[in-house]
Amino acid sequence: MTMRAYELELKYAAKKIAELTPLETTGSVSWKCPSNIAVVKYWGKYSGQIPANSSISMTLKEAVTKIRIDYKWSREIKGPKLNYTFEGKENSSFSRRILSYLLTLVDFMPWLQHTELTIDSANTFPHSAGIASSASAMSALAMGLCEVEEKLFGNKDMELCKRKSSYLARLGSGSASRSVYGQMAIWGKTANWANSSEEYAIAVEDIHDSFIGMKDSILIIESGTKEVSSSLGHDLMKTNPYSKVRFEVAEENMQRMSVILRNGDISQFIDIMENEALTLHSMMMTSQPGYILMKPNTVEAIHRIRDYRRRTGLSIGFTLDAGANVHILYPKSHAVSITNFINSELKDLCEQGKILHDEMGPGPERIKE
Ligand code: PMV
Repeated sequence: MTMRAYELELKYAAKKIAELTPLETTGSVSWKCPSNIAVVKYWGKYSGQIPANSSISMTLKEAVTKIRIDYKWSREIKGPKLNYTFEGKENSSFSRRILSYLLTLVDFMPWLQHTELTIDSANTFPHSAGIASSASAMSALAMGLCEVEEKLFGNKDMELCKRKSSYLARLGSGSASRSVYGQMAIWGKTANWANSSEEYAIAVEDIHDSFIGMKDSILIIESGTKEVSSSLGHDLMKTNPYSKVRFEVAEENMQRMSVILRNGDISQFIDIMENEALTLHSMMMTSQPGYILMKPNTVEAIHRIRDYRRRTGLSIGFTLDAGANVHILYPKSHAVSITNFINSELKDLCEQGKILHDEMGPGPERIKE
């Protein structure tokens, strides 16, 4: 496999780091990192976590993972060594996943080979609410590890640290690469953003005021684990007969988005967002074998949202992740009426009436101890 430009740069820097002796050998860092919701979806990838098309997402504010990493470096340690707890309790499946992720990072962070990490993470959103937690979890871990590296070997430029975190988060979960930035982020090479990259995400500049502070109310139609995992879903795109057209349409949608985000045309934004959600699920249905992650209440919610939009003329639209839950996006200027509608007319479709009200957020934050 050919090495990409940024990968080369990071591996070169890692060789230099491997020659250094840490400034301090123990310490701790704490971060909170948000989840994100894609408006143009990433679905399908090539080896090395390279996306088949570019994507754009809104970073959330309330749905975050908090992580604390205590580190101890010593030449004597044969690492990476990991003591992991989730919300204060042992969790062997998360622990195994993180350890194998740490092993893949050794090429970029050679000091991990001599480090013992004690990590605890927790989510602010209810456990198994059906919210994709890998984006917030993997970005929190990547941001935390980059800060550990800074503490061990001296301060670095914050922008470079974010780029590296995005790169490393991507290796854990593609969508996590976008959670490193606040407001909106793009991952994948796309024509109208010259500095975009398939190796890491970038922040979206010049967002029109009408999108700033946008709301996302999440209808929890079904919590619990999905019948088909995202990684299998991505994989099935390799044999999906419609995938080539899908990747082309995604690029067209990204180009249209670049105009819309500057001119503030919210109804066109909704148009693309809903089309992307339905396309994502039609890709699942047309995979071989095909599968359906929407539930009857997902479809009913979509009808009610569209009907409400027709009746009121208000800017409200939906999107879906790879699951049954419905994300409802709307500008903060319509928040009072739309939140009222959601709470009164959509609650009966949700598992135990569960709705999470979230909004565009500022991105990762360091937690001061
Ligand atoms: O990051 P992954 O591998 O879990 O894939 C996520 C894919 C979607 O959430 C369905 C779309 C996206 O762009 O976030």
